[in-house]
Amino acid sequence: MPGNFLKELGVDQPIILAPMAGGSGTPELVAAVSNAGGLGSWGGGYATPQQILDAAKQIRALTSKPFALNLFAGGYNIRPPVDPAPMLAMVTKAHEALGLPPPVLPPVPENPFDDQLAAVIEARPALFSFTFGIPDADALARLRKAGIRTCGTATTVEEGRALAAAGVESIAAQGEEAGAHRGTFLAAMEDSMVPTLDLTRGIVAATSLPVFASGGLMDGRDIAAALATGAQAAQLGTAFLVCPESGAAAPYKKALCDAREDTTVITRAYSGREARGLRNKFIDMTADTPILPFRQQNDLTRPMRTESGKKGTPDYISLWAGRGVTRARHAGGRADENANRGNRWRVTRSAGRAGCGRRHGPRHRACDARSALSPRLFPPPCAPAPPASANNRFRRCRDRRQPARA
Ligand SMILES: Cc1cc2nc3c(=O)[nH]c(=O)nc-3n(C[C@H](O)[C@H](O)[C@H](O)COP(=O)(O)O)c2cc1C
Repeated sequence: MPGNFLKELGVDQPIILAPMAGGSGTPELVAAVSNAGGLGSWGGGYATPQQILDAAKQIRALTSKPFALNLFAGGYNIRPPVDPAPMLAMVTKAHEALGLPPPVLPPVPENPFDDQLAAVIEARPALFSFTFGIPDADALARLRKAGIRTCGTATTVEEGRALAAAGVESIAAQGEEAGAHRGTFLAAMEDSMVPTLDLTRGIVAATSLPVFASGGLMDGRDIAAALATGAQAAQLGTAFLVCPESGAAAPYKKALCDAREDTTVITRAYSGREARGLRNKFIDMTADTPILPFRQQNDLTRPMRTESGKKGTPDYISLWAGRGVTRARHAGGRADENANRGNRWRVTRSAGRAGCGRRHGPRHRACDARSALSPRLFPPPCAPAPPASANNRFRRCRDRRQPARA
């Protein structure tokens, strides 16, 4: 039976902000979650060593609490190159639609992990988490020597066992519901789509490591269910994307809030690696086009994605989202354990609504991640209705999305 890993790190609440490389997971969001009692994580997978050091500095300026830094520990050069001409033609069409000059084919990048890891070790976060593989023994030894704890991502029980055998100290169990990139590194992607709770249960049983459940978890009930499988914490990404501190572009936030059931798909169209997100125009356009390897495809589509955000259209943005996305606006990252109330999980009021001005109006003002974990708790839908007054306006919001429960 593993000890309480997060408590040992100095983290009060069993909630981890998923690392979100690429701009959504800002230092402000990381610090807000850590300040509120969870563990904020910053995704540096696309960052240069200097950007990693700068981000750690910014986070430290905003919080004295522990936080995690995260990298991609693999994923490069795992697919043969393809003829780039058809994909260039598709991206050219998108550039024309956005008023951009024609795209330039970026080189297939080298794996930057070693240099990035040196920056992480210099930055000394409380936790180093990673995905897409396992760092080699030397890298893990250097992290240990620096006093930095480790967390690897597993999408199958076999990967969980591999992480444990390598000496990694904790595991993020990434279920098939999870938003954004699949962490899979052993079996084929299609054979590594295990539901979050099943996966968590399996890895808890197969290893003696602390496990964090991740994928499609959006509210207090989800977190309670995850903890009941033996997880020590829940790692949430999509739920936090619509928070005001998130760096997601406005049309991305709006698309999350407008999402309907069954609108997420697994696609390689934006980065070259399988990831879950909302289906949109660029995914449909490239359905029959050979996709460049990770992360050449990512570098090729970056100007298009950035411009799409600026122009206010979701058509050419990677709208990463987990399967729980339809509950984003009324659940979100505002989760808190209230051990003094019979260990019931409750979700504070408005997390998922930030950025939903069109539907919810200014009265549903965006809350920040600090209030997410504050004692101002909002009962989950299965709980008795809250007393009138303060919460009523938020109930209306919730009821629009989900039938009332007895
Ligand atoms: C926008 C976005 C970016 C992500 N980037 C990373 C990343 O850089 N590193 C990582 O380990 N996981 C990343 N993830 C995956 C999360 O760690 C986690 O598995 C996922 O968010 C859980 O599913 P949920 O989004 O349904 O909560 C990302 C998730 C999202 C939504």
